[in-house]
Amino acid sequence: MLGMPENFTKHAVYPGSFDPVTRGHIDIIRRAAGMFSKLTVVVAHHPTKPSLFTLDERMSFLKNAVCDIENVDVSCTEGLTVDFCRTIRADVIVRGLRSESDFAYEMQMACVNRALAPSLETVFLLASQDTMFLSSSVVRELASLGHSVDPYVTRMVADALHRRFLCP
Ligand code: COA
Repeated sequence: MLGMPENFTKHAVYPGSFDPVTRGHIDIIRRAAGMFSKLTVVVAHHPTKPSLFTLDERMSFLKNAVCDIENVDVSCTEGLTVDFCRTIRADVIVRGLRSESDFAYEMQMACVNRALAPSLETVFLLASQDTMFLSSSVVRELASLGHSVDPYVTRMVADALHRRFLCP
């Protein structure tokens, strides 16, 4: 791997609840895929967060969204993110940062993860300016009120939201 940056031999994991995946997540995925040799996007279980879509649905939206990116795969876990990283021998956790309020939460999570697995690094990517306001709940709320979410999600997600809210 002469001439390759050191990162380029590393396997990164991007965990989230992705309920559903948005263009903000896809922006982070594309940029992280360019920084690491392999990126595994993992739909992780959030113990206190009820979800609109099942784990399988969320995974299929993600698989559809990243199917053109060669070094990205999609998985899921119901356990700790660090345990998942150990199982697949990942080196890095990637997280996106949109605002100061994200930072406080992310800082705490990164510290817990470091205490649990000191050799795992957490790397933060700043969300692109045009996705900083975006979240899965904003998308869910717009869709539930009948507003178009086309600018914010893939066709597959927009259709699924439409079916869920407008043709129940
Ligand atoms: N663009 C758009 N939206 C973004 C975004 C971006 N770049 N980055 C984050 N978001 C949104 C998400 O859509 C989500 O929106 P919502 O709250 O409206 O649904 C919100 O920001 C939170 O992001 P997410 O990455 O999904 O975090 P989370 O808090 O839902 O999930 C886990 C965090 C699942 C990764 C974390 O709980 C986890 O690792 N769980 C497994 C158990 C574990 O290991 N816990 C840690 C140690 S205790």
